[in-house]
Amino acid sequence: MRKIIDLIYKKYKVENIDFRKAPIRIVATYVLFGCFWILFSDRILSMVVVNRDLYMNIQTFKGWFFVFFTAIILYRLILNDFLKINELNTDLLNKKMESKKNLILIEEKNIELERAMNVTNDFFMLITKILKNNHVDDEMLLREVFKIAFSLVKESNFGSAYIVENGKIRYIESIGFHMESLKSLEVSVDKFEFAFNHIKIRNNPEYNIKRRLSDDEYEEYSNKNIKIKQSIYVGISNDDNLYGGFSLDIGADEGVEFSDESIHNLEAFQQLVNGFYKIKKVNDQKNLVQRDIVHSFISALELHDEYTKGHSEAVASYSLKIGELLNLDDSQLNDLYWAATVHDIGKIIIPSSTLNKPDRLTKEEYELVKKHTQIGYDILSKADTLREVSKYVLLHHERWDGTGYPMGLKGDEIPLISQIICVADSWHAMTSDRTYKRKITKEEGIEELKNNRGTQFSPKIVDVFLEII
Ligand SMILES: [Fe+2]
Repeated sequence: MRKIIDLIYKKYKVENIDFRKAPIRIVATYVLFGCFWILFSDRILSMVVVNRDLYMNIQTFKGWFFVFFTAIILYRLILNDFLKINELNTDLLNKKMESKKNLILIEEKNIELERAMNVTNDFFMLITKILKNNHVDDEMLLREVFKIAFSLVKESNFGSAYIVENGKIRYIESIGFHMESLKSLEVSVDKFEFAFNHIKIRNNPEYNIKRRLSDDEYEEYSNKNIKIKQSIYVGISNDDNLYGGFSLDIGADEGVEFSDESIHNLEAFQQLVNGFYKIKKVNDQKNLVQRDIVHSFISALELHDEYTKGHSEAVASYSLKIGELLNLDDSQLNDLYWAATVHDIGKIIIPSSTLNKPDRLTKEEYELVKKHTQIGYDILSKADTLREVSKYVLLHHERWDGTGYPMGLKGDEIPLISQIICVADSWHAMTSDRTYKRKITKEEGIEELKNNRGTQFSPKIVDVFLEII
């Protein structure tokens, strides 16, 4: 019984309301009043009323009085409790409404947070892509930056990106605008309202657009494009050197304006992009120097070994085509390009008389020439930026059947990049004049590739290469 009462008690006890005590209090009041009435009403009546007829009449109505008074008392007690419950209920409803509002606010904040996360993620993906691949050009970088900025500023529904060339603006990307009409514009950078290290907000951009263009140009532009009510101009610069920029715009029909939060986010984003752009410029310069140094080595090798004239370049070109067909990513293509370019660099210390010998090589001479893979590896592995490609250079004379050199690796033990260079190198060697033999025809070369498919060459690479030539 006790357990059942506790169960009911727990079930109906809400916050500070004790649902068991309230009815007990009402019942106890009723019992006390009833007992008091039974005990004292007759005695008091007999003491006060002496007349027997009157006593009998009052006795008849005494029961009715009891019912009347108890009804009033019970009504007051129950009403009090109901008022309390009602008060709590209203309080509960208010709290519920408040938490609903808080939930909506949290949800909105979550969406904002998710948007910021996505934008940050996109930007870091872009940075990673650029850091992995030295061939990302500035135009592609600005295009990606523009798209990320557009998704960062939720109010914008139009936008365009442009680079500065010979003092003029050249549009490279747009959202919502008629791209051809933008491309045909001849806008001088002096008339464009760039800000180097901060953003500019314009509330009447149409006026500025008109000011930049001739009457004919503006007419052509306004016929093909919607009117803009607010714009933000963001310049991408490297110190005093303005490279380009982008604009984010709100159409004239939209009921929104750029929020302080969006402006603040965009300013932070611009600082980040400009900082990264500076680093990239330094890196590009370093890569150019590296490229120049490597190409100088290749030129020295070409002087040393007549056959290699144009060979490195051709092998790099064939290799890249194979790599692209195999859907290698940018980083792998970069490694492939460099490995193919420098694959014979080790020949630089093999005597020129041996490399350019018009007759067939003796066994000793051939063994010496074979060392060029190890020598190439030893040279390249000492350079920080070429260490990664040195292993591909080391293994470019391995054969699919395991009879190659220097390590005798077999099948997929040979890195894919080395497998590709092996096919491209052999193809160019077969189809070019060498000091000791004449070149073979394209058809003979194809036959040779097919004959050595699965023995000297990777079957997959041969199949892909046959699609190219
Ligand atoms: Fe080689």
